[in-house]
Amino acid sequence: MIYFDYRFMEVARPIIEHEQYQQMRKIKHHDESVFDHSVKVAFYAYRMAYKYNLDWESTIRGALLHDFFLYKFKKCLGLRIITDSIKHAIAHPLIAFDNASKYFDLNKKEENIIKAHMFPFGLPKSKEAWIVSYVDKYIATFEYASNFKKMARRKPAYSTE
Ligand SMILES: [Fe+2]
Ligand SMILES: [Fe+2]
Repeated sequence: MIYFDYRFMEVARPIIEHEQYQQMRKIKHHDESVFDHSVKVAFYAYRMAYKYNLDWESTIRGALLHDFFLYKFKKCLGLRIITDSIKHAIAHPLIAFDNASKYFDLNKKEENIIKAHMFPFGLPKSKEAWIVSYVDKYIATFEYASNFKKMARRKPAYSTE
């Protein structure tokens, strides 16, 4: 469905097909790749922005690049998982923006969409930025839930079944 929406694809294609952006296919995030997650967030944020007559082009570009951090976030065990997760939540929007601005020309709204998507660790300054932050959290919740379900279904190593 996403790849057949010509309006979405016209804006998204130059980013999606970029060699560096394709690298995100190899990075796992929640329950899928960062690539799949980002395209999904961009599509649903675009639908909302378009419906409310907002700047849907900046919404697509900012949302596609909101997690453009190109490294695998490794979770540690124990208490460090909390501090590491907070560090990652604060740092990755800034890293994503640094990477994105190397390869794409971004306007101020797109910059804020990326930098503020981890609200409350950043402050969205436009309706479009609020939409992306909301859609990102909404989709991430489903991806986490699906990941937990898969982990729960996995048989323990000592299982005799
Ligand atoms: Fe993110
Ligand atoms: Fe995200």
